[in-house]
Amino acid sequence: MTPDLMDAGAERIARHHLHLHDPLHTESGGRAAGFGRPVQAGEVDVTHGRILYLEDVSVSFDGFKAINKLSLDIAPGELRCIIGPNGAGKTTMMDIITGKTRPDEGTVFFGSTIDLLRHKEADIAQLGIGRKFQKPTVFEQLTVFENLELALKTDKGVQASMLFKLDSVQSDRLAHVLETIHLAASVSRMAGNLSHGQKQWLEIGMLLMQDPKLLLLDEPVAGMTDEETARTAELFLSLKGQHSLMVVEHDMSFIKTISDIVTVLCDGSVLAQGTLDEVQADERVIEVYLGR
Ligand SMILES: Nc1ncnc2c1ncn2[C@@H]1O[C@H](COP(=O)(O)OP(=O)(O)O)[C@@H](O)[C@H]1O
Ligand SMILES: [Mg+2]
Repeated sequence: MTPDLMDAGAERIARHHLHLHDPLHTESGGRAAGFGRPVQAGEVDVTHGRILYLEDVSVSFDGFKAINKLSLDIAPGELRCIIGPNGAGKTTMMDIITGKTRPDEGTVFFGSTIDLLRHKEADIAQLGIGRKFQKPTVFEQLTVFENLELALKTDKGVQASMLFKLDSVQSDRLAHVLETIHLAASVSRMAGNLSHGQKQWLEIGMLLMQDPKLLLLDEPVAGMTDEETARTAELFLSLKGQHSLMVVEHDMSFIKTISDIVTVLCDGSVLAQGTLDEVQADERVIEVYLGR
């Protein structure tokens, strides 16, 4: 996560709170809203049952098709696992969803109304898509608390940053995130002194401070101890439902613990999809990935 993306998230939260205090600010003129109500800023229209929708997406690098007619969708609140051999295009798919890489063709929608291909990387973070890269990128010289607080800062100016104070909603969120990521007891520790697993959780916490609707996590348990991996599984299961998650991992026992539907990517497109048992029994998946 970069400071720019953090700023974007903080602005999004600020806008969202404005809405909470302004019940008349709806397209329906403030009527009590139920099913079919207009989508407000900070919301994603999931009335069609999909928070993320990719269709026939392709991208080539120097003539090599890293993503090849990829189609895939994810339901709101779903925890989707993605597996597949190295070079399958898993990270490139995340690059496309987050606006880091532009596909040559295809459709990428967030909810049914937001065309992600029309948005830049920083906008996409602001729209509510948080991404966790493989390597932890926390601020090692700052405490756990300061790292989480920083994820909310709205103003780039040094003076404004120094004067920044959490409001009560933000303080509550920070306390809740600390519990969620199991770092409440380490709130005053320097991030640089945390274990690898704790740093990974802290970075996930920084994403959660921005209340993303969709979280993309690339190999989150790589390098973790077994105990840290088990805790991460618990964490993801607790996030599911409130957030939608796309998790790329090679650790099959971790996948087994957290997965509902598993998508197998190979050569830039979906090779198989189903429960872990189903894809593990699929001859083509065994051939290209799991081995005999
Ligand atoms: N920016 C890029 N330039 C050239 N080739 C790339 C680039 N990004 C990815 N690739 C290639 O695309 C393929 C898919 O890579 P990647 O998405 O990283 O796979 P995975 O994450 O599944 O291991 C690989 O062959 C990789 O070398
Ligand atoms: Mg990768």
